[in-house]
Amino acid sequence: MRELLSVTFILVHLTATMVWLGGIAFILLVAIPSAKQILGGDAGKLIGEVGKRFTPMANLSIFFLLLTGISLMAINGTISGEALKGGSGTAMLLKCLLFLVMAGVHFFRGKVLAPRIAKTQSDGAKARLQKLSLNLVWLNFGSGLVVLLLSASVGAW
Ligand code: HEM
Repeated sequence: MRELLSVTFILVHLTATMVWLGGIAFILLVAIPSAKQILGGDAGKLIGEVGKRFTPMANLSIFFLLLTGISLMAINGTISGEALKGGSGTAMLLKCLLFLVMAGVHFFRGKVLAPRIAKTQSDGAKARLQKLSLNLVWLNFGSGLVVLLLSASVGAW
């Protein structure tokens, strides 16, 4: 039973990883450049719609990563303070901290920046906020790659 639970949680954990980090990679490396290439100044409208459709999927992925992550830690017995010592423990702690930063950035963009951009009248101010928002997505992309490195190194020490 324990093995079945572990396999199920890892499956959901890896699927949530694919949806969230894969979605960020697709938007940054494929959707935005393609939209700019074809639509020029109107690219923002298409990317806005893509972002709106991706947000609920990212929210769900964050929820399932946390839920299955804690469950896996409980099953693997890595939830105790003792287990969070040493190389693996440090990697898991750093991973959880970086995950919280990534989730914080995601909700800050969605709940604070997006409404502020929509309300801003001046083109200059709107462009600056949009640039900040895009840079935060790049930050989450980079952080996600570091989390993957930390995930691969847990258990390797
Ligand atoms: C962006 C967020 C996250 C990503 C991309 C991610 C990715 C991964 C990956 C790829 C694995 C499989 C590693 C392997 O099979 O060797 C994994 C395993 C695991 N993750 Fe995450 N994870 C994330 C967040 C979390 C969080 C927040 C927690 C804890 C609350 C967590 C706890 C775990 C645990 C306990 C394992 C199993 C480790 C093992 O025993 O091999 N993960 N994660």
